[in-house]
Amino acid sequence: MADLLPKRALLNSGDNEAMTSGPSSDSTGFLPNVPLLAIDRQNGPLREQFRQVMDDVCDSGRFVLGPDVTALEEELSKILDVPHVIGCASGSDSLLLALMAINIQPGEEVILPSYTFFATASAVTRLGGVPIFADIDPSTFLIDPDDLRRRITSRTRAIIPVHLFGQTVDMDAILPIAEQAGVPIIEDAAQSVLSTWHGKCSGGLGDIGCFSFYPTKNLGGFGDGGFLTTTRDDLAESLRKLRVHGMEPRYYHDVVGINSRLDSLQAAVLRIKLPLLDDWTNQRAQNAIRYTEMFNHCELHDAITSPKIDTRGRHVWNQYVIRVADGKRDALREHLTASGVGTEIYYPVPLHLQKCFDNFGWKMGDLPITEYAAKETLALPIFAELTPAEQATVVGRIAEFFGRSPVPEEFEGMDKGSDAIGQPQHVKRTGLIGRADDVRC
Ligand SMILES: Cc1ncc(COP(=O)(O)O)c(C=O)c1O
Repeated sequence: MADLLPKRALLNSGDNEAMTSGPSSDSTGFLPNVPLLAIDRQNGPLREQFRQVMDDVCDSGRFVLGPDVTALEEELSKILDVPHVIGCASGSDSLLLALMAINIQPGEEVILPSYTFFATASAVTRLGGVPIFADIDPSTFLIDPDDLRRRITSRTRAIIPVHLFGQTVDMDAILPIAEQAGVPIIEDAAQSVLSTWHGKCSGGLGDIGCFSFYPTKNLGGFGDGGFLTTTRDDLAESLRKLRVHGMEPRYYHDVVGINSRLDSLQAAVLRIKLPLLDDWTNQRAQNAIRYTEMFNHCELHDAITSPKIDTRGRHVWNQYVIRVADGKRDALREHLTASGVGTEIYYPVPLHLQKCFDNFGWKMGDLPITEYAAKETLALPIFAELTPAEQATVVGRIAEFFGRSPVPEEFEGMDKGSDAIGQPQHVKRTGLIGRADDVRC
């Protein structure tokens, strides 16, 4: 078994033990613990900067919206090359606000994938709208444009493509469908900040873009937060008003909005992280390439399917999701969990089969590709600071499960070593961060 292991991984196992809680040694020689996500590795080196800006906000006495939120909106607007950015309290609220801005009425239909996080659909049903679920492409997990087209009716009022796991939906196909139907596109870009389509950032491709600053996202804050993007002046004006109870001017309300404002503390923290986002995203992409190479070397391609990339866009790898066929996904996950490798299932129950949506009459078999995906997908660690040694452990453990060849020696040379993480000594590790059950998206 020891020859399954890159020697560098053996050398680093002690260091890694200090970074994450887990068994103190492992007789197989694999690293004892590879978390699904280690947010502390990203935040630790920035701690002093966070402290400074938090002190500044504290001294300013401006806690809700305020100058930091305005500055963050302007910075995002430049980076995403979209004229309007509007901060709000969460990604979930951004979807709700977007549907309010286009004035969805009870009984009107909104087409969206069933294979997404709950918030995409709950925003529709909260307003009395009817979610019409479309199936997905089996290789990208993104909404299938042909199925979407089939579901357009005279009651369709909007389309919500979800740029799932960090990959942009095929907008070449979606844009003409929406145009022909005469309905707006609301992009759910919660998982895909900086993803592009033909070089243009998500959020600026449809009518409104919805983003999340939830801590597991590529640009994650210290709690809940989100933002909206739009190229349309009329929608920007509505969204700005709707996030403050529809109030304009103060204490005058001509529409009913909600309370969904971004906190100054969140914006201040996010402004420290934003300039680093592009590099972090490139590191995620590098990790994705490395996984594919390691899977190929281990001859795992008939046991698992690695994610397919559409080269018309930039994939930002919020998640690296493999498919495990032949009903082996859950057993593989158990094996990885027992070996200290963090994984997650996004998503075990598709939205059309959720109990709270029973009233819409969907049943098992309605969306076969989505239902298969829910049984076969498994997310592996992909965060920017993941080391090659950790990836070798993840892949080595998968190879071990399938009885395949080990991760080859040549991957040893790619190890940055744990020093490359640049983690200062004073960072106190909770041992909880990144455990699969702490992480959702
Ligand atoms: C696809 C998708 N949409 C919407 C949301 C909601 O974002 P938030 O958690 O910030 O409310 C999330 C993440 O949680 C998501 O992954």
